[in-house]
Amino acid sequence: MLSGKRIVLGVTGGIAAYKAAFLLRAFQKAGAKVRVTMTRGARQFVGGETFSSLSRHAVAVDIFPGNQSEKDQWTRHISWGEWADLFVIAPCTANTMAKIAAGFSDNMLTATVLSARCPLLVCPTMDGEMYRSAAVTRNLKTLREDGIHILEPEAGYLASGLEGRGRLPETETIVEKCLGILAEQQLEGPLSGKKVVVTAGPTREFMDPVRFISNPSSGKMGFAMAEAARNMGGEVTVIHGPVHIPKPGGVDAIEIVSTDDLFSHVKNHADADVIIMAAAVADFTPKSHSEQKIKKDDSTSSLELRRTPDILSWLGNHKKEGQTLIGFAMETENMVEHAQKKRENKKADWIAANSIADHNTGFGTDTNTVTLLGESVQQDFSGTKKEIARQLLDRIFNTG
Ligand code: CTP
Repeated sequence: MLSGKRIVLGVTGGIAAYKAAFLLRAFQKAGAKVRVTMTRGARQFVGGETFSSLSRHAVAVDIFPGNQSEKDQWTRHISWGEWADLFVIAPCTANTMAKIAAGFSDNMLTATVLSARCPLLVCPTMDGEMYRSAAVTRNLKTLREDGIHILEPEAGYLASGLEGRGRLPETETIVEKCLGILAEQQLEGPLSGKKVVVTAGPTREFMDPVRFISNPSSGKMGFAMAEAARNMGGEVTVIHGPVHIPKPGGVDAIEIVSTDDLFSHVKNHADADVIIMAAAVADFTPKSHSEQKIKKDDSTSSLELRRTPDILSWLGNHKKEGQTLIGFAMETENMVEHAQKKRENKKADWIAANSIADHNTGFGTDTNTVTLLGESVQQDFSGTKKEIARQLLDRIFNTG
C-alpha cells in the first residue's frame, strides 16, 4: 500500500520514541523506504543504532555532522526534503511543535521540515496538561493553518502516571493516516472524480436503552473496501456501525447505530457513482422500543420483531444510470447459488459472497475468501481483506 513511497520519519524526545521503531517496521512492511532523523532529546530514549539498523541508512541528528567524510553532508536536510514523499514526526514533543510553528531550523529534523516539499504529518505526544496548555493549543492552530496534518493523541494512561489525552496513537492508526494523506494527493486513479459510498460494520437494534440485537461484524471488510476505493482515487464516504478498528484516513465517515439510521444516510447518498453494501445489516428489529430498561418482572419471554428495510434492494430499485451497485452475501451453505439469487433479487450488479464455513473467513478475521459474482462472472479471491478489497475493485472496474 505504501509500495515505493519514501518516508522521512522524525523522532523527538518523548517516552513514545521507542514506538517509532515499530512504526518504521510497519512502513517498511507496507513497502516504503524509510530514513530517520532524530533530535538529541530522542537519543535519550532510543539509540540511533536502533533506527539505522532497521532503516539500513545512517540516522541524521545534526545539520553539521562531526564526520565530514561524506561529501555534501551538511546539505542533507535539503536532499532529504527533496527525496521524501511524506514526512512523519512521531512522536512530536511540544518543544519540536513550537520550533516548527516558529520556523526554527536548529537541527536536522526542523531544517528538513522547512526544506520538505511533501506533506508533513505531526503526531503530538506529551502529558495531557501540556497538550491542553495555551501555548501548545496556539502552536497546533498555527501548524494546521500552515497545512500540516495533525494526528491527535489518544487518551489513556500516560508515562507520568496520570491519565489524559497525550498518548501516541497505535501504529496501525498512524499508517492509515499516512495512506489517507498520500491518497488525497493521488488525483489520478480509476475512480478519480467518482463518489463512492461504502457501508461497513454491524447495526444495532435496541429493545431498551441497554439491550440490542446485533452481529459480530468487525467492519474490517467494509473499511478495506473504503481504503481500496480511496487508493483508486475515489471520493469515499463510509457509513458504519459501531466498530473497534481505526477508521480509514482520507475518507468521510458517518457513524450510525440502527438499520433505520443506516437506511436514511444511504438514501441521502443514493446518487453516488459506486455503492458498496458491506455492512452486516440486522434483518430484524424489535417491534417496540422501551424508553426505560425492561424489568425482568414486566417482560414476557418472547420478543416481537419486525423486518428491517432491505437497503440493497431499495438501492437496486432506485438505481441511477451508470451507477455500480455492489453487495456482499454471508452464507453458511450453497454459497454460490444463494448469493447469485440475492444478486438477481436485489438487482445488484455484483455480489461478493463470503462463506463462514472456514475459521479464516467471515466475521472478525483479517483474511477472507470471497467469490465475486456478476452477470456472467464467477471468480474466487483469497488473502487479507485489504488484498481482496483491491482485487475485487480491480476486477469490477477492469483495472487489474
Ligand atoms: N442488506 C441490506 N439490508 C438488509 C439486509 C442486508 O442492504 N436489511 C445487504 C447487505 O449489506 C449485503 C446484502 O444485502 O450487501 C446481503 O446480505 P445478507 O445478510 O447476506 O443477506 P440477506 O438479504 O440478509 O439474506 P439472508 O439473511 O436470508 O441470507
